[in-house]
Amino acid sequence: MQIYRSVAAFRSARASLGRVAFVPTMGNLHEGHIALMRQAAERADTVVASIFVNRLQFGPNEDFDQYPRTLEADCDKLERAGVRHLLAPIEQEMYPNPQNYHVEPAAEQTKTLEGEFRAGHFRGVATVVMKLLNIVQPDIALFGKKDYQQLMILSNMVHQFAMPIEVLPGETVRADDGLALSSRNGYLTAEERREAPRLYRTLLNLREQLRNGCRSFDELERTAVAELTENGWRPDYVSVRRREDLQRPGSDDRSLVVLAAARLGKTRLIDNLEI
Ligand code: PAF
Repeated sequence: MQIYRSVAAFRSARASLGRVAFVPTMGNLHEGHIALMRQAAERADTVVASIFVNRLQFGPNEDFDQYPRTLEADCDKLERAGVRHLLAPIEQEMYPNPQNYHVEPAAEQTKTLEGEFRAGHFRGVATVVMKLLNIVQPDIALFGKKDYQQLMILSNMVHQFAMPIEVLPGETVRADDGLALSSRNGYLTAEERREAPRLYRTLLNLREQLRNGCRSFDELERTAVAELTENGWRPDYVSVRRREDLQRPGSDDRSLVVLAAARLGKTRLIDNLEI
């Protein structure tokens, strides 16, 4: 596999790669990432993955230092998945100077849900993804639905800046017990790991009630929060939203998604389900 540690090295190879499908990641790869790589391979001549733990998207009290860096194991997984090109820039390449210019997503998209609890997170994500897209110049970029709000913000960014890139969503990959795969699952203790699928079960339950015609969104959300709290979680939110813009739905809105974030011990998990 070709590993590009600098922007210049990638740029000099780009012309030979043909139509590129790009999967940006922060590494510590799991089956969710690998599913995105496979999806990418169906759509282009070349799959380019990136691994970069982006400090701009972590808050001061978040897990930037602790975030697992597992480059060697990640390269093995990429090789096995048939990925031949990896951009893994060192920090100095991405941020040679303090990053003074930022992509600032619209407030109505960033002050809610994840943005309410992670100030500046989406600004950091949008800024690094803009930079990665400018380096890789892909025809297609793939992002998982597990980070539903991130997917919406990045799709809007690409559209609003008229970038010639097709954004494709990837389905969430789950463990057999329903827990959405995430690099942060590795922080869970054995006992917490047994408890963790409750988040998914709570969302499934809420989805069933919505599908049965219940429109008391506030009550459904309160019940879900109570269920998690009673079982030792500290929920940030469980919220029913419109899929298109993640705003609160009216009673006539039909295209919905329910999103949740909650802490279990020291680990913060997020998940969502389209209704
Ligand atoms: O979803 C992620 O892993 C990150 O937020 C991304 C898109 C790679 C940007 O750092």
